[in-house]
Amino acid sequence: MSNQKRILTGMRPTGKLHLGHYVGALENWVKMQKEYDCYFLISDYQALGDYAEDVSKIRNSVIEVALDWLSVGLDPKKTTFVVQSYVPEYAELSMLLSMITPKSMIDRNPTLKAEMARLSNVTVGFYNYPMSQVADILLSKADLVPAGEDQLPHIELTREVARKFNRIYKNIFPEPEALVGRVPRLVGIDGEAKMSKSLGNCIYLSDSEAEVAKKVKKMYTDPTRIKATDPGHIEGNVVFTYFDAFYSDKKELEELKKKYTQGKVGDVEIKELLADLLNNLLKPIRERRAYYMAHPEEVRSALIEGTLRAKKVAEETMLEVRKAMNITDYEEISNIKKI
Ligand code: TRP
Repeated sequence: MSNQKRILTGMRPTGKLHLGHYVGALENWVKMQKEYDCYFLISDYQALGDYAEDVSKIRNSVIEVALDWLSVGLDPKKTTFVVQSYVPEYAELSMLLSMITPKSMIDRNPTLKAEMARLSNVTVGFYNYPMSQVADILLSKADLVPAGEDQLPHIELTREVARKFNRIYKNIFPEPEALVGRVPRLVGIDGEAKMSKSLGNCIYLSDSEAEVAKKVKKMYTDPTRIKATDPGHIEGNVVFTYFDAFYSDKKELEELKKKYTQGKVGDVEIKELLADLLNNLLKPIRERRAYYMAHPEEVRSALIEGTLRAKKVAEETMLEVRKAMNITDYEEISNIKKI
């Protein structure tokens, strides 16, 4: 494991995961677990920024996210699942790094700015979350951070903070690179810009076959098309946006698009095709989910063993950080009675 490059990435546990998470992140994570030393963080402390008054939601969601991760094929024998709140070193490092981070760096973060504009009440904790993300990444000394496009400013911030720490104290942190997924943003089933729980336009990884078929049936296609023989439009057609994301045989897809624009294939047919495609993708995911639902102790041990492994790395890094910053001289403390 040691000569492999290290990856750290994470998700806030705020509910069950959907197809947007799959094409934007999880699919990529599954591939990467073979080549990299992967740390996958369930950032429950970060989620407090949104749900501090509903902590039980976060607690339930930790297990839900772990189950989703295992279901898509993340393998806890090859990777490390980490529950953030069980490793207090994340919070400690975040606090220390915030001391060398100019406030202006946080203020100009475009992702944070956009999020704060939507909130009526911004807590100090929420404002500070990019800093906690910097600590998440640096504590594991990650080389690479797979993440959505909206996370890029946080990774840029991480690089700046790492550079500064390395310059003023000691060179201990690698400057991590970002890796953006294949489909940075999947539209919702209603054609809205983003698949999002709060918009109620998701297909969940845990949806049944029938639920998927029902949701696909409701999708918008081409509003100008009255009969199946009318020439159809691909642009802005939600079903085809999904085909672009999920159809692996691109040549076949081109044929289908041609037929659609020529009025040779109906909306009912393309929707059936899409429902089948998605259900085929979800089939092995459902099977793994059924297995883990029947073996909850394996879900728990994936979380516990991973977190303990991460905690060890975290303790080592924190010791290095404290030494580099000249914060705790343990000898000094043990000699205290001689003063
Ligand atoms: N902010 C990320 C999200 O909302 C979750 C996250 C927490 C993360 N820590 C991270 C992502 C570190 C990448 C690296 O999904």
